[in-house]
Amino acid sequence: MGVAAEHIRTLNKYEKSILLALERGMKRYAWVPLEYLKTATKLSESEINYRLSRLMEWGMVRFNPVPYDGYALVFGGYDTLALATLTQKGTISALGTLLGEGKESVVYEALGLGPVAIKFHRVGGRSFSSARLNREYMEDGHCPWLIASRKSAEREYQALKALHPKVSVPLPIAQNRHTVVMSLINGPILNRCNVASPDEFLDEILENVRIAYQAGIIHSDLSEYNILVEDGKCILIDWPQWVGTDHPNAEAIAGRDIDNILAFFKRKYKLKRDREVALQWVTG
Ligand SMILES: Nc1ncnc2c1ncn2[C@@H]1O[C@H](COP(=O)(O)OP(=O)(O)OP(=O)(O)O)[C@@H](O)[C@H]1O
Ligand SMILES: [Mg+2]
Repeated sequence: MGVAAEHIRTLNKYEKSILLALERGMKRYAWVPLEYLKTATKLSESEINYRLSRLMEWGMVRFNPVPYDGYALVFGGYDTLALATLTQKGTISALGTLLGEGKESVVYEALGLGPVAIKFHRVGGRSFSSARLNREYMEDGHCPWLIASRKSAEREYQALKALHPKVSVPLPIAQNRHTVVMSLINGPILNRCNVASPDEFLDEILENVRIAYQAGIIHSDLSEYNILVEDGKCILIDWPQWVGTDHPNAEAIAGRDIDNILAFFKRKYKLKRDREVALQWVTG
């Protein structure tokens, strides 16, 4: 990812048009043939080869020689396309430091109208990087990581849009490809801080979970790792896996979220709360 950030400014129009052609080509091909790129970009073969070699050096594109010479976008290239679009739209003007890295995303600080956070979704990245899985999933023109990562970002954005400001979540600013731009939260993860009034803080979390539930949304990955603390207030983050309250297991999923939170407050602050009362209050 650092690679894409480094090269956002040095990407020229030929390289950008090749990345865009690859993105389109990957709807049809697992490995986009050179011929396709020639037609799509109207560039000469030597120009394309030169630009592709640079894009590969920067970790944006990969080459595969069998059964034919083909090229594919990888996360670095997809990151770059998203950043280029967001920059062009004026949503962001520069990328800052790494804020966090999770199982399925990386989050950077960025400069927008003010400081913002940009989350790059990375679904299927690791599992699909193995050669075997690449062959299995990519041969017939599917590109699961790209589609899954974009869907994940769209889903997270959808939740933030539906919940802000009723529920304490980051303000959604923009969404492009596999990225979500949102307000930057200044504060630690709940797991890493000591809250002044744990009892009230727990109430505040449950109150937000309840309002989300009333809006039809269950987080479904709620824990002390997905709550930030800013000026003594809780901010619920990381929403791509939310489910609707019309889900057949809605109550069980909401119950698991509550269990996670109650277990944390019990462990760290010795708070005892009745699980059923809390669940009833949230879903009732
Ligand atoms: N709006 C934000 N402002 C500041 N920091 C953020 C923001 N969103 C995310 N972060 C930081 O990035 C980290 C990862 O974000 P998030 O929890 O959304 O994704 P994730 O942990 O990768 O997802 P998963 O739980 O699937 O691993 C957070 O723990 C937090 O440190
Ligand atoms: Mg998380």
